Amino acid sequence: MINANRLLQRLDELSQIGRNHETGGINRFSFTKEEQQAIDLVIEYMKEAGMQVNVDGIGNIIGSYGDAEETIMLGSHIDTVPDGGKFDGALGVLTAIEVVQTLHENQIPLHKKVEVTAFKDEEGTRFGFGLIGSRAMAGLLKAEQLQKTDDANITIEEAARQFGLSPFPLEKLKRKDIKAYLELHIEQGKVLEKEDLPVGVVTGIAAPLWLEVTVNGISEHAGATPMHIRHDALTAASEMILAVEQSFQTKGDSVGTVGKLQVEPNGVNVIPGKVTFTIDIRDIDEKTIRELEQEVKQQINDIAARRHVTAAVVELQRAKPAKADGALQQQFAASIEKQGIRPYTLVSGAGHDAMNIAAAAPVAMLFVRSRDGISHNPLEYSSDEDIVIAANVLYDTVLEISGKKD
Ligand code: GLV
Ligand code: MN
Ligand code: MN
Repeated sequence: MINANRLLQRLDELSQIGRNHETGGINRFSFTKEEQQAIDLVIEYMKEAGMQVNVDGIGNIIGSYGDAEETIMLGSHIDTVPDGGKFDGALGVLTAIEVVQTLHENQIPLHKKVEVTAFKDEEGTRFGFGLIGSRAMAGLLKAEQLQKTDDANITIEEAARQFGLSPFPLEKLKRKDIKAYLELHIEQGKVLEKEDLPVGVVTGIAAPLWLEVTVNGISEHAGATPMHIRHDALTAASEMILAVEQSFQTKGDSVGTVGKLQVEPNGVNVIPGKVTFTIDIRDIDEKTIRELEQEVKQQINDIAARRHVTAAVVELQRAKPAKADGALQQQFAASIEKQGIRPYTLVSGAGHDAMNIAAAAPVAMLFVRSRDGISHNPLEYSSDEDIVIAANVLYDTVLEISGKKD
């Protein structure tokens, strides 16, 4: 059994870092001082758990326990979205550390090395490009992607170097020794709550495609320009945004979201001349994502032509949907059953580092019930009881698959 008090206390302690006391939300973005504080704390926990800690060239924090050749990796992330909750990512890292600390305290000899990774920048908040650490570890990160910039025009490479890291050569970051990757995460949806279950086993992870649309019109005087001769970038963008919403109404489980919008010059009495907005498209099937992308681009072009503005669409990030490994899913289900709980499977609508690691190793995810399904919000919540059950399921699964010596 894991140490519930220690785990819950660490969760609270980590959640104080980057906390906005007005909203209750957490802001920890990659390569910032808040992230560094969180990293320092996580490294401290890893050491207390008996792990050796290494930081790779992109800033993945990797704690290792044992010296066997083959690795079972556990992990998640400690960065957040703007005004994020305290469980998204952090819970997966802290439960993984707790599992190792329990193994260590019980002096359980294992056939496989157990590693815990806090992946660099899963959320993509700072650079509009996320899952950076897991892309690197799976060999999916490309050199040109490190030239993506934040709002202050700092590239990922520059930010990493300012953090004392040397990302190149990227091949060095790739791992080939991972035999299984397990990620515990909050569900961020309402399925487990509806089923009245504390935990569930993930069968597959839907992948995000992020696009950025720039609409260019003409900035003119709001009083002196008659309505019918305007080239208003904001009204055109508004129609595009509604078209995205409209077209996803009939697309089953696919979802489309505009989450970020910038208006220029942003003056009360100026017709907007330039608008930039993002589109987040998700589905469990890669082909469907490509079809949706084409449909959305076509709509944007049609609206731009009709409204006498121009629109350019660039890709910010694309990930591949992933399937969870069957045997690992079964092991999670068996460990859940041992707790007297009905094993239940579900799909992840949210993206996770596991999605990338699936390119390098078999992966599986354990979801913990989220209250009201709320996430990416300070109100995000999972109960202590559910967290402890999930941590014990993870512990049992690690014991089973790491070939506990008798
Ligand atoms: C991460 O939380 C994502 O799914 O965007
Ligand atoms: Mn998230
Ligand atoms: Mn997450």
